[in-house]
Amino acid sequence: MTTSRPFKHLLDIASLPKPVVLGLLNTAQDILDNGAQSYSLKGKTVCNAFFETSTRTRGSFELAAKRLDAIVLNFDATNSATQKGESLIDTFRTLHAMNIDCFVIRHQQMWTAQTIAELLPEGCSVINAGDGHHAHPTQALLDMLTIQQHKKNFVDLSVAIVGDISHSRVARSEVAALEKLGVTDIRLVAPSHFLPDDLRSRSITHHLDLLEGIKDADVIITLRIQRERMHSADFPNVDDYHRLYGITTASLAVAKDDAIVMHPGPMNREIEIASAVADGNHSVILQQVNNGVAMRMAVIHTLLNS
Ligand code: CP
Repeated sequence: MTTSRPFKHLLDIASLPKPVVLGLLNTAQDILDNGAQSYSLKGKTVCNAFFETSTRTRGSFELAAKRLDAIVLNFDATNSATQKGESLIDTFRTLHAMNIDCFVIRHQQMWTAQTIAELLPEGCSVINAGDGHHAHPTQALLDMLTIQQHKKNFVDLSVAIVGDISHSRVARSEVAALEKLGVTDIRLVAPSHFLPDDLRSRSITHHLDLLEGIKDADVIITLRIQRERMHSADFPNVDDYHRLYGITTASLAVAKDDAIVMHPGPMNREIEIASAVADGNHSVILQQVNNGVAMRMAVIHTLLNS
């Protein structure tokens, strides 16, 4: 199947037009329903360049590219010439000289993917696989796919995002995607030092109280406390945190009966989420992981199949 190329890079959700988001949701669902036979990228080369740890994103991008018959280069930052002082820019220029069609980049610094996208020649695509606490667009897209599989429409949903929102690139991309799809009741639920000032709009309410924030919610997205992006003084006592903000069987009871519970992973069980919920029948956490491969196939194919 050949389609026109509706975007050059995937750097964040904000810059994606709504029809492109809807197109990616349709393509990913089509891959899940009918297989990937019509989405071959034979002859294209995708390079995964992860400078930060990852299980889900890295693994699913590799599988996605391979299931599209693309050639995959997994760049190993820990064993690369960056360790000998080569600059990031020279590293990407060098890799690009090996005829890479698409770079998938995760980096601890915000805007890294954008910087590399601006520097590489026309025709080479960049996908942001997470940059600092700025953006994680494919996580938001796969989460929208998961929500769409469970709920009739986005417009009427109440969605609660609970946890360490201020350090979360996932939360920022989720909010952008939910707003793009018409959700007008987005509740950010966290202690005050985890509630970011940059996430405010008419669709967003801030809640310090967990039960108030998740009452009658259709979707609860729980987030990990991101130690790697905070000063140790900001790290809460985990028992207090679980008591006040943990999604447990008891707290979940105030949400809608058919509420779904999501988590982008990796999970810290018995801190932001109780095992009984993570493994219970409201949880769609492993479905998110499964959808991640299909959504990343949709993204890579849409970018490279011009
Ligand atoms: N959700 C997510 O980005 O997980 P990984 O860090 O395992 O890729």
